[in-house]
Amino acid sequence: MRGDYSNHVIAITGAAQGMGREMALLLARSGCAGLALADFNEKALEQTRQDIGDKCPVSTHVVDVRSVEDLERFRDETLEKHKRCSVLVNNAGIAALGFFEDQTKEYYDRTIKINFDGVVDCTRVFLPLLKREKSAHLINISSMYGYFATDNNSNYHASKFAVRGFTEALATECTIRCPQVKVHCVHPGYVRSQLMENADLTQITREDALDMFKRIGLTNSDQAAKMILEGAMRNQFRIRVGPDAYLLDFLPRLLPGTYLVNPRFRKFCFSYVMLNSYAAARIRDTIGLSDASCVFLVLLAQAIAARAVLRRLLGK
Ligand SMILES: NC(=O)c1ccc[n+]([C@@H]2O[C@H](COP(=O)([O-])OP(=O)(O)OC[C@H]3O[C@@H](n4cnc5c(N)ncnc54)[C@H](O)[C@@H]3O)[C@@H](O)[C@H]2O)c1
Repeated sequence: MRGDYSNHVIAITGAAQGMGREMALLLARSGCAGLALADFNEKALEQTRQDIGDKCPVSTHVVDVRSVEDLERFRDETLEKHKRCSVLVNNAGIAALGFFEDQTKEYYDRTIKINFDGVVDCTRVFLPLLKREKSAHLINISSMYGYFATDNNSNYHASKFAVRGFTEALATECTIRCPQVKVHCVHPGYVRSQLMENADLTQITREDALDMFKRIGLTNSDQAAKMILEGAMRNQFRIRVGPDAYLLDFLPRLLPGTYLVNPRFRKFCFSYVMLNSYAAARIRDTIGLSDASCVFLVLLAQAIAARAVLRRLLGK
């Protein structure tokens, strides 16, 4: 991994599975001063600790990010074990699929409490520790669903748009009050993780959700972990993970509002983006270029092809 975490003590929520676990393993392999790992899945969290072994000082904390008491205990135990904390990764989250009208208030609120309130509360609890450091990073995981909308996901979108709003606002505050704390907002595209195993589902069976995610996932959790950690060390504010996250970022900018109103047009845009994302991901996995470069290559190839077709049609 490019980027040096050797002086950092890193606290990660949602470290038992998926991207959180892969970030922990990568940091342990590359060398860091300490890892404080939190999750509410005690068994899987213990597996992460065992897989890290003695590669670096590590502590695990059974924490539900919905509970402020749990988060305060997480901070106190981190201080006790590692004496400091210089990087916080607010990663814990769940997915939710279903139409708004089919979801109860309790069901809706669960997503907001974990995905948004959990990020805000954990930031509030840990920010004083980050401010004590000469150089610190706050990494909040939003989603590409934090900048464009789909049907069937309103609570997830609400939570991830909120994480993005909170993170962007906090980043501006930190530049004034604590410029040593760098803030990063991460927008992953579809990442092959265990997200659908814990998802709240109303209209689709778990098997179908898992199957769908396997098909549309373009980036593996370990690739995503590397992109996030390298992006933070490069002081990138907005970290997009996967070619789909780059391409879908254009949609609301190019067609603000328009893509929302017509379901057929939305489907067309989405299919077009996913086809291009798939091509870009294949190039990335074959020759190892960055997502942004691969997206650029795919779009360039299309522009050249379109120009040739036009010239032919116009007889030039
Ligand atoms: N996988 C994707 O395609 C994708 C895309 C965009 C954003 N994200 C976001 O990335 C983050 C990581 O997700 P992932 O894909 O690795 O999923 P994952 O399900 O593999 O990992 C999420 C982890 O968070 C933990 N968690 C969930 N609720 C918790 C709670 N209340 N308290 C403590 N821990 C809790 C889970 O136990 C799990 O270990 C999430 O915030 C997710 O919304 C994922």
